[in-house]
Amino acid sequence: MNKIAIVGGSGLTKLSGLEVIDKIESATPWGEPSAPITFGKINNLEILFLPRHGNPHTIPPHKINYRANLWALHKHKVSEIIAINAVGGITEKMTPCSIVIPNQLIDYTHGRADSFYEENLTNVKHIDFTKPYSESLRQQLIDTASKNKLDIISEGTYAVTQGPRLETAAEVIRLEKDGNDIIGMTSMPEASLARELGITYACCALVVNWAAGKTDEIITMKIIEENLREGLSRMRCLIGKYIGDK
Ligand code: HPA
Repeated sequence: MNKIAIVGGSGLTKLSGLEVIDKIESATPWGEPSAPITFGKINNLEILFLPRHGNPHTIPPHKINYRANLWALHKHKVSEIIAINAVGGITEKMTPCSIVIPNQLIDYTHGRADSFYEENLTNVKHIDFTKPYSESLRQQLIDTASKNKLDIISEGTYAVTQGPRLETAAEVIRLEKDGNDIIGMTSMPEASLARELGITYACCALVVNWAAGKTDEIITMKIIEENLREGLSRMRCLIGKYIGDK
């Protein structure tokens, strides 16, 4: 049986429906994770929860200690991670409040600590990253959505930008030409670190705004928060049903 963890993004510092059993601080060789890991149960299944921006939300994307977060989950024997990420929509279908299960990403981040291979370099493993998200976990999430008539977008390419600022309109045009559908700041190096540790990993992205230049509107926190509120209730439903089927 897989041990499942949910890594929460913006707006998701707590997982509703989780019967909390314990919260554990976990020191790692890479430093402290974003928050103590919550151990709980949903439908009698053990679930771990980690809010990547901390609780309360204080850690911006470029300051997250991704290595400590992943290492701590690995230490607690997690074998499957569902990552929740807030993103902007670039291509036409990616309207605010959509849930997207991306199948590809392009990494535009820089300067982030992005590998566990820092010591003992004789054993460096070059992970296969052709498909950055687990196809089997993606498919299970897509099946859950379809069985429960939850509208989702079952593929897309996630541009991972450095942040914390949002993009210029010209950058979004370039990102679209590159083949990206959505933009966010947190899927890397989380996805590749999970692969280095052999953890099955997939992302459920929630579109919270149109990307810069896609509408005349200025992107405000108010717009983002409104869409987060609305979209997260559907996201909770998807995750709850997925876990309920286990
Ligand atoms: N760009 C980058 N990251 C984001 C956005 C965006 O428009 N919306 C939410 N996270």
